[in-house]
Amino acid sequence: MKHLYPALTALAVIVLSSSAQAAVHTVYTNHTLALPGVGTIPVATPLQELGNSQGKLKVEITGVQPNGNHRAIFKSADQRIVLAALTPEMAERITAGKSFTDAYGKPWRHVSLTLQIPDDVTASQQPLWHQAEQLRDTACSVCHAAPQPGQLSANAWPATVRSMGGRTTLSQDELHLLTAYYQYNAAQH
Ligand code: HEC
Repeated sequence: MKHLYPALTALAVIVLSSSAQAAVHTVYTNHTLALPGVGTIPVATPLQELGNSQGKLKVEITGVQPNGNHRAIFKSADQRIVLAALTPEMAERITAGKSFTDAYGKPWRHVSLTLQIPDDVTASQQPLWHQAEQLRDTACSVCHAAPQPGQLSANAWPATVRSMGGRTTLSQDELHLLTAYYQYNAAQH
């Protein structure tokens, strides 16, 4: 929330109170959404729900982008969890906020994007993590003990899941879910 502009927050509050909803709340994608003309929103991505009409949700994604890559939105500079991978046209509709530099002196900016997505979201990440743990316990515990999220950082997990995934029969969707599980629950550093 702290990345939202005050004006945008005020607008969202007006829109929601006029449609008699309680408050802006966070929902999470149930599946990896491949949206034509928009791009990909990975499973478990947090979204601010702004409204709901005819089976479509109006949501806002807030995150950060490194200078030079404006097609991906990440959770933070420390935890490069992909929140959206956008088409070039969609990337142009991003609202840019304040700039900052990360711990290595690299320039980043805060961004937000409003989108329409199918109403295929969940109120909590917990059921997704439960499914992921079942996949891990059946597919990842064959050769070694069940790998725990705290073993690696959020930035290290995608490459590990990709390489280890090649030794399993898990589908792409299942590997996306495992990647999200490991990244969101990873060691802080
Ligand atoms: C076919 C056997 C096999 C399966 C299945 C397997 N692994 Fe591994 N894993 C290994 C071996 C062997 C190593 C030791 C390092 C290596 O060979 O790369 C390892 C190492 C690891 C490590 C430590 C690597 C590091 O960088 O610290 C992690 C984490 C891991 N595996 C996670 C997983 C996950 C998650 C899955 C399920 C998607 C999985 N593994 C499935 C064989 C397997």
